[in-house]
Amino acid sequence: MTMPYGSRLAAMMTRRLGRECVYTPSARLALYLALRHWCRPGARVLMSPVNDDVILFVVLAAGLRPVLAPVSVGDGNIDPAAVPESTWRSVDAVLTTNLYGMPDRVVELRRRCEQLGIPLFEDAAHAIGTHVDGQPIGTFGKAAAFSLSKHVAASAGGFLAVEDARTRRELELLRDALLVPRRLHDDLAATLRPLARSAVRTLHLVRPVWRTMQRLGVLERDDFRMALHAERLSGCAREAPSLAAYEPWVRVDLHGFRSRHGALVRGQLTLRMDRLDDDLARRAVGVSLLSGTAWASPALRDRTAHNGHLPLFRVPLLVHDRNALIERLVSHGVVTGYVYDPPLDDYAGAEFVEPSPDPSAARWFASHVLPADPLLARGITNALTAEQAATAHPSTPAAAPAPIPDTTPPTPLGQ
Ligand SMILES: Cc1ncc(COP(=O)(O)O)c(C=O)c1O
Repeated sequence: MTMPYGSRLAAMMTRRLGRECVYTPSARLALYLALRHWCRPGARVLMSPVNDDVILFVVLAAGLRPVLAPVSVGDGNIDPAAVPESTWRSVDAVLTTNLYGMPDRVVELRRRCEQLGIPLFEDAAHAIGTHVDGQPIGTFGKAAAFSLSKHVAASAGGFLAVEDARTRRELELLRDALLVPRRLHDDLAATLRPLARSAVRTLHLVRPVWRTMQRLGVLERDDFRMALHAERLSGCAREAPSLAAYEPWVRVDLHGFRSRHGALVRGQLTLRMDRLDDDLARRAVGVSLLSGTAWASPALRDRTAHNGHLPLFRVPLLVHDRNALIERLVSHGVVTGYVYDPPLDDYAGAEFVEPSPDPSAARWFASHVLPADPLLARGITNALTAEQAATAHPSTPAAAPAPIPDTTPPTPLGQ
């Protein structure tokens, strides 16, 4: 009997999580599988507007209606208490974000979903090292998507974690039907891109390389959001659910998102997975450094005070004049990614999403957050000090601190 595609990597992830895992070439494909498996076309999915636009297009490609939730101004994640009762009663599924690795109010969301009898999907693309009450993010809902591109600086790889072996096998079949044959070019790009990235950083070439990429138009976004192409997007609705129809939007930043990568790529991912705990330990060190600075959000500071070890993907700092600061940071060799501004309802409008009933917190958070890479904590702290960056303080009533669940991992990782 042949082993399922990517089963060695999936087994590594199962050992971490204690859940059955399906290997996928990307987290976006993992989310697509979950949405297609559990939601019928036309279903309404509650999600945060402070999210990657790619995820919005994944939801649309699955033939679903994104319903945007009010978020907490402290961390940009869904605020379950602020979601109107009528909205709760009208949605068919919930998709969390765990933005930058800060956990969603997942216990509350799960309770709600259980009451309503609807599935909870965890987007854990940013949150591979995050725990709530000693339990890893990605083990609370029906299914969870993980991204290796984020966490081990690969240009490929993801997982869908599910509750049981039968569901895993069904999803493996769905995945196999969606994978496209690999092209050698994709495999080489996926293998070489992370190496090129770290060489550029080591050689202090970040600034010239980034500026040149900007000038050449190599980057797929001129702005924080990709161009919407509303008319073309409208036309695709007739074909949904369809990954092929939405591919021009869904593939942005990762053209091999559904490629059946060969042993070369998967072998490299295995090596990188082996180093994951070291990587998370280094992230946690950077997070404690950055959360001790004036730019740390109150939510972040509270959380690090409660549990020292927080291996975030990015550290949400809050600053005034954020966009100008991002430009100036390039001169210090710091390129800032993962800015999700404007919120998805302002970006896409009511034809494509159901807008949040109260977009103010999302707008404030999306326009002030500076996602800082904890692996570059010292350089970023120095750069922000040199630039005299001013801290932004959330001032709406929603800023009152929410109760903090214990996010300590069951066993300390590394240190
Ligand atoms: C919140 C979030 N979820 C999912 C994804 C998709 O991850 P991947 O690039 O592995 O498809 C991304 C990044 O693109 C993301 O930021």
